[in-house]
Amino acid sequence: MSALTVGVVGKGGVGKTTIAGLIARTYVERGARVIAIDTDSNPNLGLSLGLSLADTEAIPVLPRSVFFGSAGTSAESLVTEYGRPTPAGPTLLSAIRVNEAGAGCTCGGHATVRGMLAGALTDVDVTLVDMEAGLEHLSRSGGTLAYADVLVVVCEPTRKSVLTATRTRDLAEELGIPHVVAVGNKSQGSEDVGFFKAALSSNGLALAAIVPYDPEIASADRAGAGAIDIVPRSLGVEIERLLDVLDDMVASSPSLKR
Ligand SMILES: Nc1ncnc2c1ncn2[C@@H]1O[C@H](COP(=O)(O)OP(=O)(O)OP(=O)(O)O)[C@@H](O)[C@H]1O
Ligand SMILES: [Mg+2]
Repeated sequence: MSALTVGVVGKGGVGKTTIAGLIARTYVERGARVIAIDTDSNPNLGLSLGLSLADTEAIPVLPRSVFFGSAGTSAESLVTEYGRPTPAGPTLLSAIRVNEAGAGCTCGGHATVRGMLAGALTDVDVTLVDMEAGLEHLSRSGGTLAYADVLVVVCEPTRKSVLTATRTRDLAEELGIPHVVAVGNKSQGSEDVGFFKAALSSNGLALAAIVPYDPEIASADRAGAGAIDIVPRSLGVEIERLLDVLDDMVASSPSLKR
C-alpha cells in the first residue's frame, strides 16, 4: 500500500468525525499503519476510535507552529511524543484544543499539522485528518490540508451540505489537492439516495459511498461512546467501498506525491 494522506471535511455536524473514525479503523483492519489527527478545536475523534472521554481529553495537544526540517523537529518525533494508541487501532494525535476562553486563534495548531503533512511520515501507510467544520482550513495561511492527497467531503441529505462540498472542491482545486470525493451520510432511503446522486453529480462531485443513517450510531453517541462495536454490521460495506475508491485513486494517480 502506498502512503496516503486523507482529509475528512464538510459542513458542521454532517458526520465527519464518525466517518473519519470508520475510515481509520477499516484501514487498520486491512493491515495498514494509520495515524489519525484530530484538528477540531472541540476534539472528539478519540470517542469514535473507542477511547473514553477522559482518555480522549488526556491526549497531549501538539505544540503550535512547530518548525520542521533539518534544524527543527521531525514529524516522527511528534508522533512518538504526542500520539496515543486507540482501541480501534490507529494512533491518535490531538492538534488543537480550546480550553481557555480568550486565548487567541488556533492558527498555530493548523500550521503544525500542515508541516507534518508536508513530508511523508516514515512507517505510516495512511494519515487521516478529521477537520473542523467549514472552509477556513482551506484558506488559513497556505491551507492546513494543502498536502493532502484526497479530501473526503461528507454530506448529509441537505442542499446546504452539498453547497459546502462544492465550495470545498473549488478551494481544493486552487490549493492543488489532487482528489476530492463525496460521501453521502445519514441516508434514510431512496429519496436521500436520489438526492445525493442528483445534487452531487450536477455539481461535478464524485460520490464514492452512501452511508445509511444508523440509529445505533445515534444511540451510541447519546451514551457517550463511539460506534466501534456496532459498525461492521451496519455500515461496513459502504466504508469498504469508499476505501476501494481511495485505493484505486492511489493506484491510478501518478500525481500523488508519494
Ligand atoms: N450514519 C449515521 N447514522 C446516525 N447518526 C450519525 C451518522 N453519522 C453521524 N451521526 C451522528 O451525527 C452527529 C454528528 O456526527 P459527527 O460528530 O461525526 O459530525 P461532525 O461533522 O464531525 O460534526 P462537527 O462539525 O461538530 O465536527 C453525531 O450525533 C453522530 O452520532
Ligand atoms: Mg467532528
